[in-house]
Amino acid sequence: MLCKKLHHAAFRCRDARETVEFYTNMLGLRFTHAMGEDHVPSTGKYSPHVHIFFEMEDGSHIAFFECPLDEGEVSGRDPKTPGWIQHFAFEVADMEILLQAKADLEAKGLKVIGPTNHDDFIESIYFFDPSGHRLELTVRTCHDPKRLQSFVDEAPEVLALWDQTHDWSQREKVFGTQSGYTRSE
Ligand SMILES: [Fe+2]
Repeated sequence: MLCKKLHHAAFRCRDARETVEFYTNMLGLRFTHAMGEDHVPSTGKYSPHVHIFFEMEDGSHIAFFECPLDEGEVSGRDPKTPGWIQHFAFEVADMEILLQAKADLEAKGLKVIGPTNHDDFIESIYFFDPSGHRLELTVRTCHDPKRLQSFVDEAPEVLALWDQTHDWSQREKVFGTQSGYTRSE
């Protein structure tokens, strides 16, 4: 495959220092790289900034730019995008770790939603970083290769039904049942 794995996803942050404190203290990521430039390397635009990287166990990163002089192309978040959509999800080892992480984050003063079950595929908790980015910690809850393959096999049918109806009132056409994500066996 051309694309081997995630290297990084990048976002704007309000303040680099509070972002470093959040990602190292709250989530235990490694603060592995900080780059400073007065001009954006790819475009040449004058916008003094610091670009910071935080590494996960597998070597992938989440990255941020603090760029105080840059007004951006639009003011604020896309008003047509609900606040829960754009987010970054970190994978954790198991359910016990997920529940412990929720307790630890709440003890540090964060408001945490979940765990939320997504299709017996993953379970997730959600919270916000200091810049307002929505974060997710997620654990894979489906380990049955047959079930995982069934997700792959049904994905085109799920998409086709969405194309037709743009709601899930006819969910049983694909899933065999109306109730949630549950499939009839
Ligand atoms: Fe997600």
